[in-house]
Amino acid sequence: MTSPIRTERHGDVLIIISDNPPVNALGAAVRQGLEAAIKQGVADASVEAMVIRCDGRTFFAGADITEFGKPMAEPFLPTLVDMVEASDKPVIAAIHGTALGGGCEVALACHYRVATPSAKLGTPEVKLGLLPGAGGTQRLPRVAGVRLALEMCAKGEPIAAQKAADAGLVDRIVGEGSLEADAIAFAREVKAARPIPRASEREVAPDPEAVAAFTRENGRRFRGFDAPAANIACVVKATAVPYHEGVQFERAEFMKLMMGTQSAAQRHIFFAERQASKIDDVSADTQLRAINRVGVIGAGTMGGGIAMNFLSAGIPVTIVEMAQEALDRGQGTIRKTYEATAAKGRMKPDQVEAAMGALTPTLDFAALAECDLVIEAVYENMDVKKEIFTRLDGICKPGAILASNTSYLNIDEIAAVTQRPQDVVGMHFFSPANVMKLLEVVRGAQTAPDVIATMMDLAKKIRKVAVVAGVTYGFIGNRMLMPRQVEANKLLLEGATPEQIDRVHVAFGMPMGPFQMADLAGVDIGWHRDPTRIENVRDALAAEGRWGQKKQAGFYDYDEKRTPSASARVAEIIAEWREKTGTPQHEVTDQEIVERTLYPMVNEGALILEEGKAQRASDVDVVWIYGYGWPVYRGGPMFWAKTEGYGKVVAGLEKHGFAVAQSLKAGTIK
Ligand code: 3HC
Repeated sequence: MTSPIRTERHGDVLIIISDNPPVNALGAAVRQGLEAAIKQGVADASVEAMVIRCDGRTFFAGADITEFGKPMAEPFLPTLVDMVEASDKPVIAAIHGTALGGGCEVALACHYRVATPSAKLGTPEVKLGLLPGAGGTQRLPRVAGVRLALEMCAKGEPIAAQKAADAGLVDRIVGEGSLEADAIAFAREVKAARPIPRASEREVAPDPEAVAAFTRENGRRFRGFDAPAANIACVVKATAVPYHEGVQFERAEFMKLMMGTQSAAQRHIFFAERQASKIDDVSADTQLRAINRVGVIGAGTMGGGIAMNFLSAGIPVTIVEMAQEALDRGQGTIRKTYEATAAKGRMKPDQVEAAMGALTPTLDFAALAECDLVIEAVYENMDVKKEIFTRLDGICKPGAILASNTSYLNIDEIAAVTQRPQDVVGMHFFSPANVMKLLEVVRGAQTAPDVIATMMDLAKKIRKVAVVAGVTYGFIGNRMLMPRQVEANKLLLEGATPEQIDRVHVAFGMPMGPFQMADLAGVDIGWHRDPTRIENVRDALAAEGRWGQKKQAGFYDYDEKRTPSASARVAEIIAEWREKTGTPQHEVTDQEIVERTLYPMVNEGALILEEGKAQRASDVDVVWIYGYGWPVYRGGPMFWAKTEGYGKVVAGLEKHGFAVAQSLKAGTIK
């Protein structure tokens, strides 16, 4: 097998080049090749400096995550980086693309770093539930200071080359197209400089105030996660002890995280997210349809949010409404949202104008004729949707993709009103559609493979994580929400309170519980609107105008700042319904809430898989992580069930009388 590492001589400079597509991950062969090349450079008296660079789209993007959890071949990365740093000839990292994780650690072990303007440096290990485990937590603060090291390690966001240069992490920004030549020139400038600067030999002063402020500011963000605190502890250690002691501490912390379930869950999601874009029976080289203009029907909250995704990605949008007032309101909301983003510095004013300039608002349905994709985003009513699709069928050009943003309805039934069911697909966005990462792509019985492939590709362009779902009521996410809600409602009558149920869900790591979610979304959503027809607690609340946060009253009472408090009135209504239904009371424990609201979701997920409505268990996990805020450190409901133990989940479900899915019982979920 040829090594992914090769060397080239440029006079007295040895260039060490990695060619390990797609991202130059630091797998065993790369590490072995690097070790040999560094030894070669050190041993060869005619070499005065070395440059490490990578072919392809990026500098080393990290350790090879696929090797984690398996026996690893030598040299280990921590040993390798120490060896690089120990070289008595200067080593220069020549960075393009993304120097991430272990890649950033290799760069830190080099004596100098040069980078192209577009390069990024980062230590994203925390997003995998880990920390930089090859000296990164010890070298980074010594080079870039405590504050930046905390930001980079505990949050995991990469920084741009210029910011890295300002912090001393990059020594020179070089030409975008002349990285190697500029790195060689730099090497010649520094080859004779002694002493050779070694990050591990530097000292960094403690900064307890920065650490306290950082921890305080990010308390919410880090809630429930183990890795951020471990990253912080390692950075603090770097300010207190010499390097060789610090790396031992780092190693021990790294191994603790690596062996834990949180990192396993987060690594699972890393690969699950990438796997989700692959469709089992659609070849990766399927010819895609060109999407140069998108039409959106409906300029309400959903339609407007959907339109923004395309506008932000530079794809022109025609947005259609029935009345001028609604159109103006929708357009105004889009502008206001962009301007708020610009005010936070996350968009430039000219980008706002470019996005708004690409929007064509119109009352003329016929304008959709020029669109390559039309997304219907009107309210959930089958008759209305059928009428719209009949009209679209008459107007749209051949080959245009017709999509419905329905959250529940049958795509096949909608497709059947057209002469082109192969071009019809579901695009289920999650609210707010311009923010939430998930897109359920609903594949109808006749949806063409190239339509699905185009959807998956388009999702990437608009920075969504797309998952394919089959036609089933509520698709993957909302279908799993239903048994949870049914049980939560029953538990109220049996003796639990909304506060208790929500508290258990929040403690589990969800952003909010079922009743907090109902209040946010609107208790009146899906309500039959007849105040005299009261069949359950929810009807009773809706009939009294307790529609949730928007009315300052729902399952909770709210003050003007929308701070919730337990409601005496709701307690009364629940008590009335307990009596009316003659529901026996018992003390509901937190564990029972878990077993009766979360286990049924797993069960439903298993049924969805058995019915072939999702491709794989990891897709179900992706839906819940990106669409509903399931805590990523629990890896999604299906991964969580595995860590809980399928046997325990099955026993819990059976104890409460649920019919358990066969694959869950047999432990054959895939
Ligand atoms: N190890 C193994 N495979 C990796 C990988 C890694 N570190 N990084 C990416 N890949 C794989 C992906 O799984 C994907 O495979 P696929 O094509 O079979 O699905 C392929 O490379 C391309 O990845 P993306 O689709 O993500 O490509 P993008 O261009 O969108 O993004 C990237 C590139 C920004 C480098 C992104 O892949 C990324 O963020 N990678 C992870 C970076 C990371 O977390 N590094 C730290 C690793 S842990 C570590 O270094 C520990 C050390 O401290 C000891």
